[in-house]
Amino acid sequence: MCAQCEMLNADATDAFAGKMLGALNGAALAMMTSIGHRTGLFDAMAASDTPVTSQELAFKSGLQERYVREWLGAMTTGEIVDYDAETSRYDLPEAHAAVLTREAGAGNMGIAAQFISVLGGVEDKIVNCFHQGGGVPYEEFGRFHEVMAEESNGTVVGGLRPHILPLCDGLEARLEKGISVLDVGCGRGRAMLALADAYPASHFTGYDLCAETVAYAQEQARARGLANVRFEQMDVTRFDAVESFDLITAFDSIHDQAAPATVLSNISRALKKDGVFLMQDISASSEVQNNIGHPLAPFLYTISTMHCMTVSLAQDGAGLGTCWGRELAEKMLREAGFTSVTINSLEHDIMNEFYVATK
Ligand SMILES: C[S@@+](CC[C@H](N)C(=O)[O-])C[C@H]1O[C@@H](n2cnc3c(N)ncnc32)[C@H](O)[C@@H]1O
Repeated sequence: MCAQCEMLNADATDAFAGKMLGALNGAALAMMTSIGHRTGLFDAMAASDTPVTSQELAFKSGLQERYVREWLGAMTTGEIVDYDAETSRYDLPEAHAAVLTREAGAGNMGIAAQFISVLGGVEDKIVNCFHQGGGVPYEEFGRFHEVMAEESNGTVVGGLRPHILPLCDGLEARLEKGISVLDVGCGRGRAMLALADAYPASHFTGYDLCAETVAYAQEQARARGLANVRFEQMDVTRFDAVESFDLITAFDSIHDQAAPATVLSNISRALKKDGVFLMQDISASSEVQNNIGHPLAPFLYTISTMHCMTVSLAQDGAGLGTCWGRELAEKMLREAGFTSVTINSLEHDIMNEFYVATK
């Protein structure tokens, strides 16, 4: 190799090593961000009128000072928190609080950061799957359902009435009047609970495979005194309703199915003739080359490998993965019997797309 080529190669290697160093620090900060969210440290910092010492922050948060100080070390050197060495005080700038605190609602990136830690918990099992095949089942994912519910509470539940329902012509009026609604893969049921509260004349059902999430949702319905919503443990591959629902929803729950084609056919059959299927799924192309430059693509393929794809493969399923993408999704919807499919994106949401499908 000529001397100039060698130099260019060394520059490229240095630049790439720098990028990987950034990835390492980014991953570390994501884990610390998850901890900051779970312990309420960001909220406590934002609530303080003045910068705080590590002792003051630990006291305010009811946490151990030594841990808080080390966390602040990561936050300071990661340029999330400002530090004044003269006074030993730390400050969370307002602009950072706006994306790291509960006050930020759906914009709180501390919520999504928790996925990194949840997924890290199954790394050994995933490595084993790389060698042996198969998958890691839902039961192995610890806090997954809790984090998922927190995440979708921001991205979906909060957006339902202002942004998502209006995507379906006349749907809000039908809900006001009284219709029958089913949510497949309802998780902890927050979407159905919110709609049941908002539309007392309509009836809502949530199906999920997981007994724990269904029990959680049932308890929430009881606690809120909502008589127009019910939750049932059900494998949606097996439900056999015919023309029974006016609206069926699926929030982030099709691509990790073991048998997504069967589930889509079941949904199509269960919808009344003039019914609507509203599906939220990931904003991505089915072709990896089209996802280069997507601001969340590495995160999405990681979630897929470590969760969405593997939970499907654990059931000998299709393993579509998080980035099955709009091309394949539309094809499968049409094969399931939907003649009209529109794909909508929302301005504030770079992660999801909303499919409105009718028969
Ligand atoms: C990614 S989570 C989404 C949960 C919820 N829709 C939300 O947005 O928070 C996917 C859900 O689908 C459920 N699920 C997966 N396969 C299922 C099946 N065959 N029948 C019913 N639920 C299923 C899982 O238990 C999980 O709660």
